[in-house]
Amino acid sequence: MNILFQLSGSIACYKACTVVSRLVQAGHTVQCVATESALKFIGAATLEGLSGRALLTETFAPGRWMEHIELNRWADISVLCPATANRLNKMASGVADDLLGNLWLTHDFAKPLFVAPAMNTRMWTHPVTQESVQKLESLGVTILRPDAGNLACGDVGEGRLMEPDAILRAILA
Ligand SMILES: Cc1cc2nc3c(=O)[nH]c(=O)nc-3n(C[C@H](O)[C@H](O)[C@H](O)COP(=O)(O)O)c2cc1C
Repeated sequence: MNILFQLSGSIACYKACTVVSRLVQAGHTVQCVATESALKFIGAATLEGLSGRALLTETFAPGRWMEHIELNRWADISVLCPATANRLNKMASGVADDLLGNLWLTHDFAKPLFVAPAMNTRMWTHPVTQESVQKLESLGVTILRPDAGNLACGDVGEGRLMEPDAILRAILA
């Protein structure tokens, strides 16, 4: 399968690397796309090394002006993991001010899109975030709901990225 794997800026990016690695090991072709914030948490070299393909981050990269449309044509499924609160709320409003935003607005709804949020409990339970999640679900997006437990910020509650094995089971089912 061709898998378009998108990462946004959460501390859980390091766990998403395990998901990318396992997908590649399972024989899938994985194209990673990361936001600028995601690259504050992990390096491009990690994603390129794991996927064996150049990482994409920019809407206006020279020579790749139709990437946001081509990638959705190419992909059999798309995964956004981890999904930040910022990203969920931008998606719900249709903001397309970066490559991920453009990919979302050119998403082919005939194909599956899995979104795995990861964030602080307050961000996750914020009414705006919850409304965005409901809106995305109503549009046919599969939300891989976060687990409850210890969070990087020291809080305990809902917001932990779903465990990589569970994400793999969900997207490969
Ligand atoms: C140390 C640190 C950890 C963060 N972890 C998260 C997180 O897990 N989830 C989240 O929604 N935002 C988190 N943020 C905030 C996002 O990185 C920020 O909202 C950013 O603008 C998201 O951009 P993006 O959605 O374009 O990737 C974190 C910020 C910092 C400084």
